[in-house]
Amino acid sequence: MVEKIYQWLEDRTGLISLIGKVAKHPVPSGARWWYVFGSATLCAFIIQVASGIALALYYIPSADEAYVTLQTITQSTTFGAFARALHYYGASAMVLMVGIHMAQVFLQGSYKFPREMNWLTGVLLLGFTLLMGFTGQILRWDQNAVWTAVVAAKQASRAPLVGGWLSTLILGGPTVGGSTLSRIFVVHVFLIPALVFAFVGLHLLLVLRHGISEPPQPGKKVNPQTYRKEYEAALKKDGVPFWPDAIWRDMVFAAAMTIGIVILAFVFGPPELGHPPDPSLIDANPRPDWYLIWYFAVLALLPHGIENFFMIFAPLFAGILLILFPFISNHGERSPSRRPWAVAVVIMVVVMIGAFWLAGVKSDWSPNFDPKPLSVEVIGADSGPIFKGAHLFEVKGCLNCHLIEGDGGRRGPDLSEVGDKLSANQMLLLISNGAPNMPSYASTLTPTEIDEIIAFLRSRHSRVK
Ligand code: HEC
Repeated sequence: MVEKIYQWLEDRTGLISLIGKVAKHPVPSGARWWYVFGSATLCAFIIQVASGIALALYYIPSADEAYVTLQTITQSTTFGAFARALHYYGASAMVLMVGIHMAQVFLQGSYKFPREMNWLTGVLLLGFTLLMGFTGQILRWDQNAVWTAVVAAKQASRAPLVGGWLSTLILGGPTVGGSTLSRIFVVHVFLIPALVFAFVGLHLLLVLRHGISEPPQPGKKVNPQTYRKEYEAALKKDGVPFWPDAIWRDMVFAAAMTIGIVILAFVFGPPELGHPPDPSLIDANPRPDWYLIWYFAVLALLPHGIENFFMIFAPLFAGILLILFPFISNHGERSPSRRPWAVAVVIMVVVMIGAFWLAGVKSDWSPNFDPKPLSVEVIGADSGPIFKGAHLFEVKGCLNCHLIEGDGGRRGPDLSEVGDKLSANQMLLLISNGAPNMPSYASTLTPTEIDEIIAFLRSRHSRVK
């Protein structure tokens, strides 16, 4: 009976023998742990689809309800918080795996002939992955998310010629609102996932078509005229069946990653929702999730003069470079030991992203909205003008931008020893008139208050004297 059903299925679809053929297809022996990151990315994507569907069961993409539904999901649905956490750590894993997979393909020259299209479809998948991360963060629709959308639209509006049109396309109108959320939702839930499915299919088809690249050997160059023949011959000689000789590593790694994601989700839970969106809070300071925060740092640290230019052309340039890449060099050495430049490029990119990432995490350029109050010990007085000045320094927001003995913000200079540096008159001018990136306080502080603050600042001296 089972045999009959099997026969019928095979006869009507041909799927069983096809799957068998794919599973048993020979791959080069010696394919090591380096090769597991592609399948791990796919596994992370599957986790995203599953947890994403779970979230979409409850999520309502309307400006009035999105935030509330997320709160409901987090607080009162069974496994809701866990589904959100899975989706968050799954996204993190997917971005990480895509990055490592790409670095590995680049380092080992696997993008060279005949696998140029594997690389190209991979570059598109990288772009889709980042777009998913970005749009997903906006779907949280908290203060942070709404401002991220605004910043994205502002950035897009700086493009020459099509800028206004692009910004309207993102926002669904002239300003951020309900139609923005609907659009981002459609892009995140229908449009990009459909593209990802299609391109993952194509990517895998190409992997089957050209075979998994053999581990590179120094001195063994890729020659487009002879590569395919050599590859076939090597497979005949010592190829191993994909199932079970090669796939077990993929499975072990994907399982370990999945367990890691589940543990993280379980222990740390979902990312906290920010405040509900409030369009009147214009000084909110959008911060993307960790895997995009380095780009946010790049934008924050750019000199103002080249900002417009950079915002549009840097991503464009990077994209075009990645796309053209396999056509610039599709033959020759594959081994990283013979391609010092490739190694240098990867190290440089990692160091650069790492440095900007650190800067983004610290984000010294944005005020510290939650500084510790100054202690009486630090102030050095518990009454009188100095004490009053210190109190004003806190409540009028100076401490948000300035450090006093290591406490406060880093937007402006450290004022711990400013008494050594500036006279009372210089301080008066600065505080009344403001400075680049510092507000003027002439209209918000009374002359007595300014005098008290100056008394406080004049008391700040270097302690070794
Ligand atoms: C939004 C952030 C911000 C706030 C709030 C702020 N400042 Fe500043 N402040 C700065 C920046 C930035 C500078 C450096 C300006 C420049 O480049 O000349 C600065 C410079 C100064 C300086 C000169 C320091 C030096 O070493 O030259 C003093 C003094 C000062 N601020 C005092 C204050 C006081 C007092 C207040 C509150 C009444 C205050 N600031 C509020 C950002 C801020």
